Amino acid sequence: MVISAQEPDDLIGRRFILINASARETFQAQAETGLLVTLIRDPQVLETVDEALFGAIESETLFSMGGAQGRILRAMAKPLGEAPDGSRLALLVLRDETDARRAEQTRADFLANASHELRTPLASLSGFIETLRGHAKEDPKARDRFLGIMQGQAERMSRLVDDLMSLSRIEMNEHVPPSDRVDFVAATQDVVDALALMAADRQVSFATDMPARDGTFITGDRDQVIQVIQNLADNALKYSPAGSTIRLAVEGGLTAEQAAETWNLEAGRMTLLSPDRAGVRYVRLRVTDAGVGLAREHLPRLTERFYRVEGQKSGERPGTGLGLAIVKHIVNRHRGGFVVESQEGKGASFTVYFPMI
Ligand SMILES: Nc1ncnc2c1ncn2[C@@H]1O[C@H](COP(=O)(O)OP(=O)(O)OP(=O)(O)O)[C@@H](O)[C@H]1O
Ligand SMILES: [Mg+2]
Repeated sequence: MVISAQEPDDLIGRRFILINASARETFQAQAETGLLVTLIRDPQVLETVDEALFGAIESETLFSMGGAQGRILRAMAKPLGEAPDGSRLALLVLRDETDARRAEQTRADFLANASHELRTPLASLSGFIETLRGHAKEDPKARDRFLGIMQGQAERMSRLVDDLMSLSRIEMNEHVPPSDRVDFVAATQDVVDALALMAADRQVSFATDMPARDGTFITGDRDQVIQVIQNLADNALKYSPAGSTIRLAVEGGLTAEQAAETWNLEAGRMTLLSPDRAGVRYVRLRVTDAGVGLAREHLPRLTERFYRVEGQKSGERPGTGLGLAIVKHIVNRHRGGFVVESQEGKGASFTVYFPMI
């Protein structure tokens, strides 16, 4: 915008005499000229403009537009000198920095969460070391028990660090398309085999419904595809009661609509990621458990880093809330889709689908 002014100190008398299309749209200006305060009321912005008009000083300020979206803009004012009619002129440039600010906030939250997650087991380790050097020194039974707990905490920390590293690796090459040829059914079978012991331990069984191997190939990163299947199967195991069955169903040759079709009409449903291409065939994996399930309000937040449902945070289901964030990033790199359907107390079903070769 070009701003013109006659009198110093008359902050509300500043007029815009030129406004480009995007400023018009952003501030919903009705005309090409008018009073600046009808568009921007923020006193700091008005002052910044005045410094350019009468102080011949270039300056800038951040301000928030309010409204539902709460956009954050940077206002930069440059002096343009005097017009032929004697009025003063300044150029006001506004840049929308909302996305950059949000990204910054996300990074800050992420660091805060990561440090917090690391600090808890670390504090507990220090506490036990102190106890072991103190009054538990001569008590072999207590010593054994404490060492067991310490080992658990150390393992938790190392799992967390692994997950964080894996997440940042995945993010780093998220824009690089994967290139291996991956047999999706074979990958799923491998995961089921690898988790067999743990499942037996928890008295949960896997039931698979899959086409033959050699029929469903995708262009993927094999380790990452395995990681997706593993994270979903691992969650199903973790959130299922003893005696229940987890179903893994694989189906190939589907359109995007078929791959994402509703499975359980009664359940809450949330699309966590949808593919960005048309005319592609997909192979779909659906992991369905009969476990604790999820209330609807949790569904949109599941892929946020460190998001765990309240009440599951401590207790018998260890985890850091990174698994589904990792799944989302990997599926995104593969340009696939990700959907969750669940009902509290009635199990959950997680669906991922990948473009086929
Ligand atoms: N099959 C499921 N049934 C019920 N709740 C689930 C299921 N899968 C995930 N959740 C909920 O979603 C949350 C996030 O899952 P995610 O896999 O990201 O983290 P996690 O399993 O807690 O920890 P991690 O996978 O990092 O070890 C879980 O804490 C749990 O509350
Ligand atoms: Mg998990």
